[in-house]
Amino acid sequence: MASSEPKLVCRGVWKIFGAGGKSLVGSSSARLTSAELRAAGAVGAVRDVNIEVREGEIFVIMGLSGSGKSTLVRCLSRLIEPTSGDILFNGENLLAASEARMIEIRRHQMGMVFQHFALLPHLTVLANVAFPLEIQGVERAAREERARRMIDLVGLAGRENAFPRELSGGQQQRVGIARSLAVEPELWFLDEPFSALDPLIRREMQDEFLRLQSVLRKTIVFITHDFDEAIRLADRIAIMKDGEIVQAGTPEDLVLNPATPYVAEFTRSVARAKVVKVATLMRPLNGTLPQASIRANAPVAEAAPLFSHGAETLAALDGAGIPVGLLDRAAVVDVMMRG
Ligand SMILES: Nc1ncnc2c1ncn2[C@@H]1O[C@H](COP(=O)(O)OP(=O)(O)OP(=O)(O)O)[C@@H](O)[C@H]1O
Ligand SMILES: [Mg+2]
Repeated sequence: MASSEPKLVCRGVWKIFGAGGKSLVGSSSARLTSAELRAAGAVGAVRDVNIEVREGEIFVIMGLSGSGKSTLVRCLSRLIEPTSGDILFNGENLLAASEARMIEIRRHQMGMVFQHFALLPHLTVLANVAFPLEIQGVERAAREERARRMIDLVGLAGRENAFPRELSGGQQQRVGIARSLAVEPELWFLDEPFSALDPLIRREMQDEFLRLQSVLRKTIVFITHDFDEAIRLADRIAIMKDGEIVQAGTPEDLVLNPATPYVAEFTRSVARAKVVKVATLMRPLNGTLPQASIRANAPVAEAAPLFSHGAETLAALDGAGIPVGLLDRAAVVDVMMRG
């Protein structure tokens, strides 16, 4: 579970490509539309974005191609210089940091998996994963030891001496993930890390990723244009359109209360029962406790098979196994019927 401590705060961030970007943003009260920017010969790739990423959460940014996801995530580590706004990492104002300080932060505290990342073709898997540590000046035995641990973590133990060309696309992706983890980042940015994979391997990688996160508990900003992927992985999702965040919330929030028709369109094909939590449907405890139980934070879909054994009501349990409510068959059927 994510704590509520904000790890990364992004306030009023703009990125305008093209001439005169800074003067176009001007006083922060001006809120130029995409059309106004285009007319001025500029692209508003990121427009007045405000987000807070909490320690230990998976924060997913999703939106169609060109909506500004990659630009935003690069602004967060200042690989792209924002036109204006504030970015605070552990309370430190990154836009006031020197370039040397930024390099230190990126090297030691941030991990990145880029949308089109490349492994070094002439290096083995082990050397690829150890590479960022080599740059940090970590001595050989220590960096190889840590690299082996990361390779093991992503399920590639035994392939340390292979070269990238000898691996499948999914395996190469895992090497990229292991490499970005080698520095043990506090804040981990992943820009469409699975989008090049076919659907089956992609699902496997998502499971793998959730397993990794249950062990590592990183603070993660994950980009995807796939809503199914977003709801599988996210604690919270921010939906971008034309450089703006149109809505941010839990998957459940977005599906049940879409703020705009655009968000509703994304969420339309999602089975509600996979998103709505038992906790949302349960009623207060009273009387005797049913035998059968389910976790309160499980999606309702997981409760359905439990009713097939004849139970009318399930006990909903918190993370410590304490009953916190009751879930009725009728409430579950109702959600399933609505799709
Ligand atoms: N260096 C640049 N110069 C000018 N315009 C740019 C530059 N980089 C990005 N853009 C524009 O900014 C907008 C946002 O691009 P961005 O790459 O952030 O989108 P994205 O959401 O990551 O898309 P995708 O899903 O295709 O990766 C696009 O209109 C793009 O053309
Ligand atoms: Mg992108």
